[in-house]
Amino acid sequence: MSCIVIVGAQWGDEGKGKFVDVLTEKADWVVRFQGGNNAGHTIVVDGAKTALSLLPSGILRPGVKCLLGAGVVMNPSVLISEMERVRAAGADTSPARIVIDRDAHLVLDYHIAIDKARERARGSDRIGTTGRGIGPAYEDRSQRSGIRCADLLYLDRMKERVRAHVIEKNKVLELVLGSESQVDFEALWSTLEQEAAILAPYVGNGSKIIHEALRSGQRVIFEGTQGVLLDQVHGTYPFVTSSSTIAGGASVGGGIGPRMIDSVVGIAKAYTTRVGEGPFPTELHDATGEELRSRGHEFGTVTGRPRRCGWLDAVALRRAVRISGIDNIILTKLDVLTGLRRVRVCTGYKRGKEVLDDLPALVHEYEGLEPQYLDVEGWDCDLAQVRRWEDLPATLHTFVREVSRLVECPISFVSVGPGREATIPVDVHPVVAGFVGAS
Ligand code: GDP
Ligand code: IMO
Ligand code: MG
Repeated sequence: MSCIVIVGAQWGDEGKGKFVDVLTEKADWVVRFQGGNNAGHTIVVDGAKTALSLLPSGILRPGVKCLLGAGVVMNPSVLISEMERVRAAGADTSPARIVIDRDAHLVLDYHIAIDKARERARGSDRIGTTGRGIGPAYEDRSQRSGIRCADLLYLDRMKERVRAHVIEKNKVLELVLGSESQVDFEALWSTLEQEAAILAPYVGNGSKIIHEALRSGQRVIFEGTQGVLLDQVHGTYPFVTSSSTIAGGASVGGGIGPRMIDSVVGIAKAYTTRVGEGPFPTELHDATGEELRSRGHEFGTVTGRPRRCGWLDAVALRRAVRISGIDNIILTKLDVLTGLRRVRVCTGYKRGKEVLDDLPALVHEYEGLEPQYLDVEGWDCDLAQVRRWEDLPATLHTFVREVSRLVECPISFVSVGPGREATIPVDVHPVVAGFVGAS
């Protein structure tokens, strides 16, 4: 039995998709355990790029099975078109390979309408959501009225519940949120009926399947979406998503006991990005920030929005390591820093005479914080073809070692390009080594 959880250790888009794909070389299952199509995970194989928002990033490895766990919120239209897209590229998308947990909740048109209308109504206080209906779907789950995947098997029983939802949400849209947008029940229902017929064969008992897979010695990867700092409870609230993005979320949303997890891998970028609103102490508003954005192609996979860019924040990363129990980090996009005269890492935030060693709890407490930096000399050689740690420049070694020291966590791999092959082992965690055939 071998079970790893992979989480984003910052505010998302750290390169989780690439590394879930890399680590599926020897995996049997990949499980998405939270989030929905707010996620955008990019995989590059032999130069060909695939963007996934709902399917687990194991889908491009023939033979690897994929589960959308109970903690996921699933938009049926998006899942069906994503399956069609990867099937056209040669992937097997049959129910023999993909399972959708019966307890996962659906994202329907009214969730999307409410998400967008609420953001508009918030005005300058908006969160900058992806507008995919994720928050409203989780709200329905919390208030115990959500529609689940198992309901797709009982359309007659579900119909009146969906109709009641549409009536209620239309009132909220008009009377509470002042929106002109209304959802048409008949149109929604006729689409949903067709989608239910397609998706019904995929619905299964995910937690039981995974439990049995683990007990029979199979290798399972739990694929997180978003990042620890976007966690609904432990993130930079209220500028967060609506699910448990921390490693513990794998237990909650996957339906396995926490003691089944053998290792927690945190994916972190060698700098920091954030999409949407919210605190970001090391954000750069200057030419270096622009340079990181253009060289790192930092534009949202889902919405195309420019990502905000800044230096690596070891204070925030240390928090992510603590909250998620990350026992090894994969540091990505080091190639993007090539050519900079110096590379900075934030070691603390100064407020008056005090130096804070953790993120503040409230948004107004970020005002006037001055990040303190450790500067490391940059490097200027092309990393694209480098495949061994010892062949990397000495200043890059120093940077990686300093990050590891500051966040008190070993580094398993560094990444120097989007492709599978641009992956360099450093101090690979023994459990993780089993997923790439190294043991
Ligand atoms: P995710 O949401 O964490 O899966 O990350 P995204 O796919 O949204 O964003 C990461 C982007 O960086 C994708 O376009 C990846 O192909 C790309 N990427 C991943 N690792 C590296 C790397 O080491 N170097 C470069 N240049 N790009 C990378
Ligand atoms: P991946 O998995 C980056 C951000 C949104 C917004 C906040 C809430 O690709 O790393 P939501 O639509 O979830 O209610 O939006 O969370 N956000 C992400 N940022 N990467 C993601 O996913 C994100 N998913 C949501 O920009 O600030
Ligand atoms: Mg992404």
